[in-house]
Amino acid sequence: MSSETPKVQQTAEEEEVLPPLTPFQHTKYNALAKKMQYFHSYLQGEFEQAYEFADGSYTKRGMSFKSYLNSVDQFRMHLTMHHDIEEAHVFPKLAERMPEFRENERHKTSHKLIHDGLDRVEVAVKAFKKDPTKYKPETMREALDSFREPLYTHLAEEVRDLSAENMRKYWSIEDLKLIPM
Ligand SMILES: [Fe+2]
Ligand SMILES: [Fe+2]
Repeated sequence: MSSETPKVQQTAEEEEVLPPLTPFQHTKYNALAKKMQYFHSYLQGEFEQAYEFADGSYTKRGMSFKSYLNSVDQFRMHLTMHHDIEEAHVFPKLAERMPEFRENERHKTSHKLIHDGLDRVEVAVKAFKKDPTKYKPETMREALDSFREPLYTHLAEEVRDLSAENMRKYWSIEDLKLIPM
């Protein structure tokens, strides 16, 4: 089966109806979205656990207060690392052809918004580690809620923009190998 894809001259704005992808082409073009979705599901799980356990229910899972705070901090570090890797290695290549991955465009702007929220989480965790008597479930949940919407929107939009139907507009199957992910 050929891995050649139709050459598309139009920009993303001038949508044209493209022929349906074969199952082979779809698998190839959708590989990045699939990989990204895997990472995002893991990060969402960590976020939801941090939120759920904030009311003290971490004890039901045999966690101490300290290990709960460590798990929140770990989520913060995992998400930060995920975005740092994207910005250092993946986005620059995508941005060569895809405007949404460029500086000050959708995805990097979303990362910045999310990180304002992560900074709040970091401050809260530090303060509660220093003085556990000051712990308030609502403070932790407010910090997480402060970026819930931008986080979930971003995670979904990134997967959508890496999906087969979008990727095919910018890349040949051969050129997908150039994307370091
Ligand atoms: Fe991502
Ligand atoms: Fe991202």
